[in-house]
Amino acid sequence: MAQIGIQNLTFAYDGSYDTVFENVSFQLDTDWKIGLIGRNGRGKTTLLHLLMGKYPYQGTITQSVLVDYFPYPVPDDTLDTLAVLETVTDAPIWQIQREISYLNVSEDALYRSFQTLSSGEQTKVLLAALFLNEDRFLLIDEPTNHLDAQVRQTVGAYLRRKKGFLLVSHDRMLLDQCIDHVLAINKTNIEIQKGNFSSWWENKERQDGFEYSENEKLKRQIRDLSDAQKRTARWADQTEKSKFSSQKSGLSPDRGYIGHKAAKMMKRSKAAETRMEKAIAEKSDLLKNIEQAEDLKLFPLTHHRNCLVRVQDLSVSYGHHAVCSDVNFEICTGERIALQGKNGSGKSSIMKLLLGMEIPFTGDVHIENGLHISYVPQNTVDVQGDMKAFIQRNNIDETLFKAILRKMDFARCHFEKNLDCLSAGQKKKILIAKSLCERAHLYIWDEPLNYIDVFSRIQIEKLLLEYAPTLLFVEHDRAFTGKIATKVIAL
Ligand SMILES: Nc1ncnc2c1ncn2[C@@H]1O[C@H](COP(=O)(O)OP(=O)(O)OP(=O)(O)O)[C@@H](O)[C@H]1O
Ligand SMILES: [Mg+2]
Repeated sequence: MAQIGIQNLTFAYDGSYDTVFENVSFQLDTDWKIGLIGRNGRGKTTLLHLLMGKYPYQGTITQSVLVDYFPYPVPDDTLDTLAVLETVTDAPIWQIQREISYLNVSEDALYRSFQTLSSGEQTKVLLAALFLNEDRFLLIDEPTNHLDAQVRQTVGAYLRRKKGFLLVSHDRMLLDQCIDHVLAINKTNIEIQKGNFSSWWENKERQDGFEYSENEKLKRQIRDLSDAQKRTARWADQTEKSKFSSQKSGLSPDRGYIGHKAAKMMKRSKAAETRMEKAIAEKSDLLKNIEQAEDLKLFPLTHHRNCLVRVQDLSVSYGHHAVCSDVNFEICTGERIALQGKNGSGKSSIMKLLLGMEIPFTGDVHIENGLHISYVPQNTVDVQGDMKAFIQRNNIDETLFKAILRKMDFARCHFEKNLDCLSAGQKKKILIAKSLCERAHLYIWDEPLNYIDVFSRIQIEKLLLEYAPTLLFVEHDRAFTGKIATKVIAL
């Protein structure tokens, strides 16, 4: 068992005003299975890159083991899979075969050109190759985005048997399946906790709840103390003055007694002031790590027809490659339909077809007249360049768009950045915010939650349940689909 130690780490990207890390310190045990949790843009990917020695930083990182990063680039995907894997591991073939079998990949995949493997198979073999190298600590950055639910399950079960990794993921079920420690990048600090995602979440909720009530208590205390302090100070002042006033009776006041009384009151007022200062200091330590996820809003359009889309006997094929066939479904107002199927089963193609894109198909696709559709594509290639230009290009309301992004934890400084510099999740949030700005009868979202942090996942779930838009979606996060889908179409 070895340690990875991080002391007083400070890092900012070249040309950025904001630091990603400021003076952080923590220590990891390389036998742990660690889930790295944090909101989009907090620096998870950056941290992994720093551990890989990719950028210069201030502070010290000590690690007595070698680290490897996933995903790593495949130099040439026309090569046989075995040749690709041999670029990262020296393990003998029999070990490679055994390792990929743990992930349910058949042996013949090794002798096929890498590019012919499905995205799930590619992820699985690349991951297996890294685990074959002994005495390495693996840094695994969001391995399951785009993978179907079944593959996620397999990858989760595989990771559960392994040790020594730092896994970045926003998939609650995957994390629960395979980690024993959590490294959380909070708003103001980094903490390590034993347990899995659910236990960390529960602890966080408990801690947040405690801090909220403590905060209220201190607020009341400070108000009361401040009133009392003002009152006693005023009395002390008046009493002190009365020492020198002549009284109606003609008797002169007992100056000694009054002075003593005023001093006692002053002391009491000072004590209240000190207690108040202490309460203010205590209060300022609270609520620092509360994550804001203000409720989102959406105002879908209503169509005069109930049934918006009808698909009958649909088949999609690219050349000789049949993607799906005999697909039948309807989309009615208010339904939230999960389109499910393995990687490569034609989910994105069907969505694109409904959007009127050029997709080769046979069968009947009927879309009601005047139907407005808002679309979130699977990839974020369109999120690039200047934000102003993106807003203009997509004809969206800038104020609303930015307000939505602020609610999804964008800092104002992110609006100034070039979109290419945003983190993976921030880019996807740009696409979701764009869709939420659009009033539509039907929302078509292709893997909306890829890269999106857990807080915003829950925020989006809440929005969909509250505003009940008609939705067709593909999403492999089992927790999300379970809550949202009113109907499932299995391909
Ligand atoms: N090349 C870059 N230049 C400037 N800023 C960058 C660059 N890459 C990332 N950033 C910024 O650094 C911060 C951390 O980014 P990073 O990609 O590490 O976040 P993350 O936690 O991995 O997010 P996600 O969950 O979305 O993957 C973000 O605010 C991002 O905008
Ligand atoms: Mg990242």
